Amino acid sequence: MDKLLQDQVAVVTGGASGIGRSICRLFAEEGATVIVADLQAAPREGDDPPIHEVIQDKLGGEARFVECDVTNPEQVADVMDVASELGGVDVLVNNAGVFRQHDFLSMSVEDFDFIMDINVKAAFFMAQSAARQMVEKERGVIINVSSVAGIQGTGGFTTYCASKGAMRLFTYALAQELAPKGIRVNSLHPGLIDTKMTTDDVAIIGAEMGEGFKQMIPMNRFGHPDEMAKAALFLASDMSSYMQGASLIADGGLLRV
Ligand SMILES: NC(=O)c1ccc[n+]([C@@H]2O[C@H](COP(=O)([O-])OP(=O)(O)OC[C@H]3O[C@@H](n4cnc5c(N)ncnc54)[C@H](O)[C@@H]3O)[C@@H](O)[C@H]2O)c1
Repeated sequence: MDKLLQDQVAVVTGGASGIGRSICRLFAEEGATVIVADLQAAPREGDDPPIHEVIQDKLGGEARFVECDVTNPEQVADVMDVASELGGVDVLVNNAGVFRQHDFLSMSVEDFDFIMDINVKAAFFMAQSAARQMVEKERGVIINVSSVAGIQGTGGFTTYCASKGAMRLFTYALAQELAPKGIRVNSLHPGLIDTKMTTDDVAIIGAEMGEGFKQMIPMNRFGHPDEMAKAALFLASDMSSYMQGASLIADGGLLRV
């Protein structure tokens, strides 16, 4: 039996660390050539080798790293040029994102723009660049990594929730627009996943705030990046061939919507 992503070209933004890193590994194991588009090749979480090296040297797969700040149109073009050389992008995972906690009354325009530029605007134009290649092939898959915060609002995270909610509705609108061109667009909504984002950027896991959240999760544990990769693989592959404009929630039962 063929692997689920045999001979496909997958671009994973923010693929060097956390959830993106797990997605890159699993996609490569399933036969994809993976383009890791990130600010840095080294993972945020430690001393492990960059994932494109792991894929090539240890898994015998195909991977490229392209230095890319997703808010920089020239670097986005570099990513798409590499994809084009490899035959054109089949799967885009808009995974790069940032998470911050702010007091609404004192936060600045700069705080707002930092999150919205990366989580929303960059994802929007990354999808546009990828879709321009996908329409040529008359097929493709776009996965927008939103969050439970794109469905449920939480105080202290107003901008993040606004950004992830925008990503969800962007997904739905784009799904209708691109379906006739053979492109599927869906969003993935992780719950609380153990990455540098939730241990360092906002100290939730390993801190008092995390214990409070954990009590609200019926499975009584945080998620692992590999579990998000499996959900992403489902959306990327023909296993989800009739899913379009859908939200896949993987949160241990936190939301139950
Ligand atoms: N960890 C969670 O609990 C959780 C929950 C819900 C949603 N998410 C979403 O999942 C995605 C991945 O999060 P994570 O937890 O793996 O975070 P992470 O911080 O571990 O990894 C994020 C990666 O994105 C990269 N990145 C950041 N800004 C970038 C930019 N401007 N251009 C290119 N790359 C950039 C970072 O270098 C890093 O490699 C994000 O969109 C996040 O909002 C995470």
